[in-house]
Formats: sequence, structure tokens, C-alpha cells
Amino acid sequence: MKKLRSQEWFARQDKSGFIYRSWLKNQGWPHDLFEGRPVIGICNTWSELTPCNGHFRELAEFVKRGVWEAGGFPLEFPVMSLGESLLRPTAMLFRNLASMDVEESIRGNPIDGVVLLMGCDKTTPSLLMGAASCDLPTIGVSGGPMLSGKFRGCDLGSGTGVWQISEQVRSGEMKLSEFFEAESCMHRSKGHCMTMGTASTMASMVEALGMSLPGNAAIPAVDARRNTLAQLSGRRIVQLVREDLCMSRILTRNAFENAIRANAAIGGSTNAVIHLIALAGRVDVPLCLADFDRLGIGMPCLVDMQPSGSHLMEDFFYAGGLPAVLRELGEAEMLHRDALTVNGKSIWTNVKDSPCWNRAVIHSFSQPFKQNAGIAVLRGNLAPEGAVIKLSATSPHLVQHRGRAVVFESIEDFHSRIDDEALDVDENSVLVLKNCGPRGYPGMAEVGNMPLPPKLLRKGIKDMVRISDARMSGTAYGTVVLHVSPEAAAGGPLAFLESGDFISLDVHKRVIECEVDEPTLRARRANWSAPPLPQRGWERLYVKHVLQAHQGADLDFLVGNSGARVGRDSH
Ligand code: FES
Repeated sequence: MKKLRSQEWFARQDKSGFIYRSWLKNQGWPHDLFEGRPVIGICNTWSELTPCNGHFRELAEFVKRGVWEAGGFPLEFPVMSLGESLLRPTAMLFRNLASMDVEESIRGNPIDGVVLLMGCDKTTPSLLMGAASCDLPTIGVSGGPMLSGKFRGCDLGSGTGVWQISEQVRSGEMKLSEFFEAESCMHRSKGHCMTMGTASTMASMVEALGMSLPGNAAIPAVDARRNTLAQLSGRRIVQLVREDLCMSRILTRNAFENAIRANAAIGGSTNAVIHLIALAGRVDVPLCLADFDRLGIGMPCLVDMQPSGSHLMEDFFYAGGLPAVLRELGEAEMLHRDALTVNGKSIWTNVKDSPCWNRAVIHSFSQPFKQNAGIAVLRGNLAPEGAVIKLSATSPHLVQHRGRAVVFESIEDFHSRIDDEALDVDENSVLVLKNCGPRGYPGMAEVGNMPLPPKLLRKGIKDMVRISDARMSGTAYGTVVLHVSPEAAAGGPLAFLESGDFISLDVHKRVIECEVDEPTLRARRANWSAPPLPQRGWERLYVKHVLQAHQGADLDFLVGNSGARVGRDSH
């Protein structure tokens, strides 16, 4: 076995070795633990402010069991935890900051291998990105989804249910008191959102990339098998260190292509586009928006799950989970079968015999839930660098549409006018929201799925074309064009759109255009000025360095990796 990295700290027979060992011994560790056992860092995003990860201290104990069993030495450490439901102005503002915390925490400490405990949306990409920039042997363990929400005898999905019933309140179909009653029914166990929102999508991406043991994505948080998976991951990470199997050997171009196709097959979140591009940038794998269109084109959605369908993650698990989906992809020649995974086997070896127990939840490739359901990349004079739309969540009658723009300059402008009965809008209008991109919000909030005007909801209108430089929650749905790049705050053409301009959307042709001639756009551009930089602190650094959505919204100076070497001692 290669010399352990941790021995650069613990095997030292000098003053530094004394310091490195002695302070740790205050926790009661016997001396022999420092004599050549692989040290496994358990990177924990536990926080009571991140409800989806609230059970992670217990989960970490199961990882430790496995590490001890395999002869390793587990040391748990906290990193910045990003809770989607509480963190303002948006958890995405801090994804890159958390990734820096992860990267430096791993690199600066005597760690030989890492187990990443991930759950709520941004905790997954931030940990993967930070760990990838160090490139040690690494295994991901997701926290698992909550049990299905149940309200008045029916399923109620995280997020998706909020968007649905809040519209019922705005249209007058549901009383506010009934709406609040649903609060306690939606989230009734530990775990993350149980729709195919961003957390479930990213947990699926971890598995499709080969970064977790098989089955990671769908086991509910409260199911005993989630703890078993954590324990087995603890055992396996020690072995990974002995094999010196680093993250960059798993995160290959083929692994990313598998993840992109898996995302289409599960009806996954548009947020995966941004996170996968950012992650690929950390391991020097070229990946761009066009790859999503090329690989996703013609891909069917196999999984009938909210927000694109009706089921929830518990149903997905009982039906066979992601291995059953990956098997379908493999049999349809839509999977790089030889992609290596963290258990040392190829992804195909892991999934080729995986059963599907319920075809109502996981459809076959030949009889999919929805045809042509990947994430489409749109381009045109409104989005020269691209925009995305989730085909599985659109309304068929709107995918080719021409309409008059109703433009909102900011989220505040939107909130102040959308409920106004006098707002000049009808069902053919296109709602446009500006200045909600990476720099504009800042942090590219999940506000792209704008609620519809109440007067149209009362007419029974359920969907309209919406366009913005924002993201949307993975739990949301509708004919929503997102991630318009460059964003308005960076001087993209979206900045110059005005109410009354006509917009044409043709998803089949992958086109999004505004019908405004060049001289008019030029004249409007001449009157435009960029929003001021935030005064200080993280927001200022972020806005100065954040890349655009089509580049993954990483910070420009974080792209790439530096390995795990630290040349100097601390004293
Ligand atoms: Fe944490 Fe949805 S709020 S996963």
C-alpha cells in the first residue's frame, strides 16, 4: 500500500509529530491508532438549521462502525451546511463558499479518505466539488428522502405540493387555514425532499456518477437499510484508501455522460445541469450545455414521480430505485457500462440484474413514462449562451408559443404587481423575470417558476410560458425557461427586453427569440448600466468572480483542483 498521507502528520518523530498526536489524544485515542491506520474524514453537513440533514450525527455513527470494522480510524468534522428551506437569500449563493470549506478542511487535515454526508440540495454539489478539488479516495453517502407526505388521504410531495396548493389558495379554491394544516402532513419524518427535486436528483447523480455504493439515491432516511449503506460505505472507504482509488478515476467523462442520461430518465432537476458542469470543472472534464442536449435528445423519462408525475421517492425505492433505471439505460445502450464506481466494480456489473418491482413507477425504456423528456438547451438572440427547459415538466400546448412579454425588472417588482387585477396579462402572455441570475440576485435564486396571476388562475389557467435568468426548485414544474445566459445583470439581452415585445419559443427547434430588431436592442443597451457591486464581504467576492449559469456558476478561481498536498507544517 502507498504510504498513507496521514503519516505525514502522525509518523513524525519530532516536535511537529508530538503536536499532531498529543492534542488529538485529549479525546482518549490510544497511541496505536496513529500507527498506520487509514484516517477517514467524515465530512458532516449536520445542522439543525438544515432540517433535511438533521439526522446526520446518527448516520455518521454508522459510517464510523464500518470504518472501525475495516481497520480505519474515523474522524468526523463539520462543514458549512446549506439548508434550502431557511437560508436567505438563497442557498445557492453559498454553494461555492461551502465547497471551499470542504476543500480546505480536507486538504489541511491528516485525512487519507473521505466519506461525504450529503442531503439537502446544495450540500451534495458543494461537498462533491470541494472534495474533487483535493482528489482523495472519496465515497458519497446521501441522507435519504423523507417518507411520503400524506394529506387528506393523498400523497403530498415536498415543494411540488406547496406550489400546487398555494395556487389553489390564490385562486380561491382553498382556504388559508386548510393550507396551513398541510404543513404538518407534508414533512413527517427525517430526510430530504421526497419528490424528484434537486436533493433526490443529486443523490441520483452521486449514484449514477459511481460516487456511492449502489442504491444510495432512494433508500428512505428512516429505513434501516440507509444505516446499513452508511456502514458499508465506512468499510469500503478504508479499502478505497488501500487501493488508492481517487475521485478523479471515478469522475470521468463517461461517468458524467451516464449522469446526464440518468437525469433525463428520472425526470431530474434542471439544477443538476449547473452542478454537474461545476463539478466537471473541478476534475478537468470538459462538459458544457451542448452535452446535455446532445446526450438528452430523444431520451425518455422512465420514472413517474413528482413533479413530472405522481409518485414519491418511497415508491421509487420500493420499485427498485436507481439501479432499476440504470439497468434500463444499459440494456438500451444508453450507459457507458464500463464506468468504474467506488465499490471497485463497473456500473453495469452493479446494476445488470437489478429488478423492477413496479412498472407504474419505473417504466421500461421501450414503454417509457414520457417520450423526449430530457433537459433541452435553447438558444437565440435572447439567450446567446443558452437557456434550459425541463421537457418532462412542460405543457405540450406551450412548447411552441409566441406571446407578448410581461416584464418584471426584479423579484420585488414581480411580487408588487403579479396580483394586481389591472396587470395587462392574458394566458398567451410570456412572463419574464430579470436580474435573478448568479450576479443579479445574487446567487441565482429558485424563483423562475413565477406564480401565475390570480385572475388567470381563476379562469382555470394552470401554466404559462415563463422566462428568466433564475433557477427553479427541482420540485417545480411548468413551461419555464431558466438559466438564461448571459444573465440580465451581466448585460445579457434579457436586460433589454421590455413589456410588449414579442417572444417566440420553439422547444422542438431549441430556439428562444425576442422579436426586437438589432438597432432597437442597441439603443436600449446604450441606456443600461450594470447593477452596483455589493459593498463588502462574501457577496462582493461572489459577484466579482461568479461564472455564468452555462459555465456552472462556480467562482472563476475555484475551477480545477490543487490535489491534497500541503508542503508546510503549522508550527
Ligand atoms: Fe432540503 Fe428540499 S429543502 S431537500
